[in-house]
Amino acid sequence: MKNIIISPSILSADFANLEKDIKLVEDAGADWLHIDVMDGHFVPNITIGVPVVKSIKQITQLPLDIHLMIENPEKYIQPFAEAGADIITFHYEAALDRSLDIIKQIQALDVKAGISIKPKTQPEVIKDILNYADMVLVMTVEPGFGGQKFMSDCADKIPYIKENSHDNMIIQVDGGINADTAKICVSKGANSLVAGNYIYKSNDIKAAVESLR
Ligand code: DX5
Ligand code: ZN
Repeated sequence: MKNIIISPSILSADFANLEKDIKLVEDAGADWLHIDVMDGHFVPNITIGVPVVKSIKQITQLPLDIHLMIENPEKYIQPFAEAGADIITFHYEAALDRSLDIIKQIQALDVKAGISIKPKTQPEVIKDILNYADMVLVMTVEPGFGGQKFMSDCADKIPYIKENSHDNMIIQVDGGINADTAKICVSKGANSLVAGNYIYKSNDIKAAVESLR
């Protein structure tokens, strides 16, 4: 594994040319592919569902990093696992005291489990369950849309998460990541970066991916 896991978000790709846009980041050396699943309830937007993930699995070798921004995540873990998810991340805010059960539900399907916190959620609330997860995803924008501005105070949660995590914890950040904000997050202890707009709107996708490392 490389030091920093780069996971381009296809939310900023051209959905009419998804295969081409996935190959672009694959050829550019991306490590994972970040797929944002939104239900119009947990967030005010609707994006990708299980059938699309299943199709994507057929055309890429990249591990599929599924970010569930949905209510009742436990209902959809198995379908996404069967569709080919390699990592499934759900939101603490959508699960609350069911979070640990959901982490175990994901791992029982041989999929890595991630738990995410929104900008207004403090990491202390997941302290006791953190170490059961394989990944913690720190949102650095309000979830729902690509292309928003990075909230630097959210990155200040990273050191706390690192201090309270097992050695293999993946600490991922998502929202407003570019070469500058990536540096801030990595210096605080992040080891996985999601980027949508920064990668897909760049003229040189390979250089953009490399600039995040
Ligand atoms: C936002 C999504 C992000 C989004 C990031 O709710 O979770 O993954 O695609 O997009 P950028 O990198 O453009 O902020
Ligand atoms: Zn995301």
